[in-house]
Amino acid sequence: MAATLHRLRSLLGAALAAATLSMACVSVAEAAPTPSTDGDVGAQIVGGTRASTSTYPWVVYLATSSGFQYCGGTLVAPNKVVTAAHCTEGDSASAVRVVAGRDDKNSTAGTTARVTKIWIHPSYTDATRGYDVSVLTLDRNLSQTPIKFATSADSALYTAGTSSTILGWGTTSSGGSASRYLLKATVPLTSNSSCASSYGSDFIASAMVCAGYAQGGTDTCQGDSGGPLVAGGKLIGITSWGEGCAAAGYPGVYTRVATYAPQIQAQL
Ligand code: ARG
Repeated sequence: MAATLHRLRSLLGAALAAATLSMACVSVAEAAPTPSTDGDVGAQIVGGTRASTSTYPWVVYLATSSGFQYCGGTLVAPNKVVTAAHCTEGDSASAVRVVAGRDDKNSTAGTTARVTKIWIHPSYTDATRGYDVSVLTLDRNLSQTPIKFATSADSALYTAGTSSTILGWGTTSSGGSASRYLLKATVPLTSNSSCASSYGSDFIASAMVCAGYAQGGTDTCQGDSGGPLVAGGKLIGITSWGEGCAAAGYPGVYTRVATYAPQIQAQL
């Protein structure tokens, strides 16, 4: 479970001296502005609020066999979960659990499925190079309702300013601790040109989409990766990377699902 160990290290804050952007989940360069939500009572994801899997039945989390939550995912068919390639890279299917219907990680609500197959986009190398998409096949059909994912017919959903929903059990501040509960927030999609201004050539418009407020304060964060970015009732993005979390001028970067829809569809 090399990838999981990597994520554990990053969640524990023992960041390698590796480049901030190339190792997306390693929180480095924390000279970034402190998220405005730090210290707010009830501030969650970063800047979000509690949500229920009754409302968002397709949001799931990935856990180790010992139950440690390390990424998110989205149910797109009764036995298929879309997540990030950087969440599953190096993992063997038998080591991954998918938990559905559990808002509170400390509860036993919902269902834990095993994984029988991990597909990772064959061109994936690093989140900042795109192709950050993976599809898991589960050992059973879940009762939770799946969500449709965006295809080339859904380009309108990627219009700058579109209100989108982010969800996850990840950290509530950059380098902070993970949330016990499912959290959600609403963030606007940014334009490609604005995201390119933030991230330079690491931002690849065909492979990624960015979301967040110019002033920061609301974002996905470590442990949210692999989870959903939803707009217009469809999965349009997969939480992938960013500079810190919720920092002004640095939106979250998500895999552009519509670009990879044919490859995802081929796994269903
Ligand atoms: N790579 C992180 C993960 O594995 C997600 C980082 C998202 N960062 C952001 N600023 N939106 O959980």
